[in-house]
Amino acid sequence: MIKKTPETVILLNFGCKDIQKYARAIRSEHIYTMVMPWTTPTQRVMQESPVGLIVCRDAAAPERPAELDAFAKLGVPLMKAEGSFDAAAAIAFCKQTCGCKGLWTVDSFIEEAIADIRAQVGDKTVVLGLSGGVDSSVTAALIHKAIGKQLTCVFVNHGLLRLGEPEQVQKIFRDTFDMNLVYIDATDRFLDKLAGVNEPEKKRKIIGKEFIDVFAEAAAKTNAPFLGQGSIYPDFLESIPLDGNPAGVIKSHHNVGGLPENLKFELVEPLARLFKDEVRAVGRKLGLPEVMIDRQPFPGPSLGVRCVGEIKREYLRMLREADAIFTEELRASGWYSKTWQSFAVFLPVKSVGMQDGQRRYGYTIALRSINTSDAVTAQVVHLPWELIEKVSMRIPAEVEGISRVVYDCTPKPPATIEWE
Ligand code: XMP
Repeated sequence: MIKKTPETVILLNFGCKDIQKYARAIRSEHIYTMVMPWTTPTQRVMQESPVGLIVCRDAAAPERPAELDAFAKLGVPLMKAEGSFDAAAAIAFCKQTCGCKGLWTVDSFIEEAIADIRAQVGDKTVVLGLSGGVDSSVTAALIHKAIGKQLTCVFVNHGLLRLGEPEQVQKIFRDTFDMNLVYIDATDRFLDKLAGVNEPEKKRKIIGKEFIDVFAEAAAKTNAPFLGQGSIYPDFLESIPLDGNPAGVIKSHHNVGGLPENLKFELVEPLARLFKDEVRAVGRKLGLPEVMIDRQPFPGPSLGVRCVGEIKREYLRMLREADAIFTEELRASGWYSKTWQSFAVFLPVKSVGMQDGQRRYGYTIALRSINTSDAVTAQVVHLPWELIEKVSMRIPAEVEGISRVVYDCTPKPPATIEWE
């Protein structure tokens, strides 16, 4: 990789829970920050040519005078943020003591990433698994900007996507961006394998394995030596043990997604240095539509874990239609962007309903809306009652086969975010 990023400030993690937040806070001033554990060898730190070091330590974490001393002797300005972190003071340190001018911008990132991708790939080709999620979409747009038709995206429709998703992804990437896009409709293959399977983990395993098989087949056909991947900075940081092995500064690259051993790719990961909101900013700059940029997280097994118990085509149809109504109303009321995840769940539970004066025996849709900072715990969103009521009226009226809608009021814990 060509390293041209000027003004790198390194935050040394001496035991600081919120260090990613601090790294992000300084980046908002267009100063590039990296997080490294205190166990990082000083030579490794110096490889990044840092203009400043910030030692971050929570009050409860032990002092490590020997390590601190080793970093202090490097001849790079060092600031100690111990016990508490004052973002304004840290930014002032970067600007005044380290001389940072704020050169890390979306434009400079894109320019540098394009140069890096071109240098890495040369005249060879890249294959990328496009899910339609934010990270893979922005990765595709960025690699495409760098190497155009040398990139082939593979989009697998496993039959568990939401309403309109396959059409939307094809429209944006094939029609608008004019990318090489291989669209594989593997619906039957997945749903046949899932028929009669009730157990959530078994469903997940089937979906995961089939996905890899279908993608690997398609990727092998492209003969591309490179695999584009949408890993972002927190994916790497979260895998660094705080007091652990310095070799883990960059996560060992085991083809994430578990591609078979015989498929050897070199990875192209242009977003590896970005936080999520920076990924979104890059996506906007590259012209991706807002509906793609502001999308909520969506689990890999997709509607498979939102269709409780056995998956049937008819159940998926009801779930898709109900989910689309919920999303439409969330967007219309401005609540979509105020919630971390909001979605519908299909429950194969029948109850009596009334429509047009007739008794109707139909299935149940649960609505779930949560906020969280890390998905480890989650709070239920107190959506306006009028919104819940409107969605609860629309779904049974518009979705054939549904007679009842319930709102899931359980936080995590004790419940998980997904129903399966
Ligand atoms: P839970 O249900 O465990 O979900 O509270 C936490 C977050 O993870 C997502 N999730 C998954 N994502 N594969 C994924 O890629 C999965 O199997 C999976 N299960 C849950 C979930 O949507 C939530 O954001």
